[in-house]
Amino acid sequence: MKKQKIHLKAPDNWVNDPNGLIYYKGQYHVFYQYFPYGPRWGTMHWGHAVSRDLVEWEHTGIALFPTKKEDQNGCFSGSAVEKDGKMYIAYTGVRYEKNDPEDIHSSQVPHFDSTQMMIVSEDGQTFDNWADKRTIIPPITDSRIGHRMHTRDPKIWRGRDAWYMIVGSTLDEKQGTALFYKSEDLQDWHYAGRALKPSLPGWMWECPDLFETEEGHVLLLSVIGLLGKAGREGEHTICFNVDFQEDDCRMQIPDTYQFLDHGLDLYAAQTTLDEEGRRIMIAWLRMPEKTDDGWIGMFCSPRVVTVRDGHICFEMHPNIRRAYARKIDDVAQAAPEGYMLCFDLLEGESVDIGGFLVYRKNGCICTDRTAVSASVNRAVSETPAIEGETHLEVLVDENMIEVYINQGAYVITNAVYHLKRSVTSSVPKEIQIYTTT
Ligand code: FRU
Repeated sequence: MKKQKIHLKAPDNWVNDPNGLIYYKGQYHVFYQYFPYGPRWGTMHWGHAVSRDLVEWEHTGIALFPTKKEDQNGCFSGSAVEKDGKMYIAYTGVRYEKNDPEDIHSSQVPHFDSTQMMIVSEDGQTFDNWADKRTIIPPITDSRIGHRMHTRDPKIWRGRDAWYMIVGSTLDEKQGTALFYKSEDLQDWHYAGRALKPSLPGWMWECPDLFETEEGHVLLLSVIGLLGKAGREGEHTICFNVDFQEDDCRMQIPDTYQFLDHGLDLYAAQTTLDEEGRRIMIAWLRMPEKTDDGWIGMFCSPRVVTVRDGHICFEMHPNIRRAYARKIDDVAQAAPEGYMLCFDLLEGESVDIGGFLVYRKNGCICTDRTAVSASVNRAVSETPAIEGETHLEVLVDENMIEVYINQGAYVITNAVYHLKRSVTSSVPKEIQIYTTT
């Protein structure tokens, strides 16, 4: 099966959200939303990839696919936990009211049912899609609680006294919300409350994730309509420091949020714990078009989530940094997975990475991909103004550039196309270049 290094990419055709992230029986598992029949979104399957170290990945084929009435039009996003040695996956099954007769992978009308479902695997390798699936939460019929169509992406975790789920939803397709459910045994789930932030724009919260850090709870949301623009320009993943009481699932969401990434191409982030107990995050890079090799969609490098003085940071995972161990003089010597550049950037300085510009202006770190972008949407990205020094570590892959600033205090990730293999700069000190061994 297909092997990849550093960045997990679509094996072919189409991928979106990472799903079911888990370190289980000595391996990392990343499942992902996968359409196996063409480079476009359609009936969702779960593709599956495994790794021993978060660096070398192997795609192992399709894990979940539609077999039941409830998931006949797709196995949407979800998450995984381990219990008694087994892997339990919660996901959203989707059933359209009417398929498009000319394209059965699309819905003809905007009406469908969403069911929260579970599949259990003995070993995390084999998934019996006929025998081992069941419904855990039927479509919601009480619109005061949530939405029959738009309730999806269950994230489950073990709390102090029970299993918990947070799932994205909407009130009347006007206001995003997330619902909490609780279970003693992962089988019977009951509604336990909701999270709401009426002042936050956006009609739907997708892929919610909630976890505890040493500095308190962090909530990740992928919000549709956040910036009041149509389509992808309005959909973004954001994060908050929240107050969360597990016993009654009460949540206080503050007025201010951070972007998960300042490139605004990453979406549908999910977290889990790594083998050392660090909180790690992976997100989907929304690529505007397919690559020359015919696939579309990939994932950012795994990042460690920390909260430093109330600021949520996404640091490069130490295994990734360690993988770039070979120092080179010229990017022409880089391995196929690309290279890492390390440098400091002062006001007015700039670096041109094969047509992708990184520069500092008014204290902000900015990027401009005009020369290496398939679409001209949002060519320029920028961080807020940063005081003092900025140290950058930039991971350069054929189709994605990740600019880590000050140990993940900010990250800018952008999709790129047809990068040149050259680096020029106005930075006085030498830029250090590393590639994988
Ligand atoms: C986010 C999302 C999820 C859904 C999945 C379907 O990108 O829309 O809410 O489960 O993609 O592929």
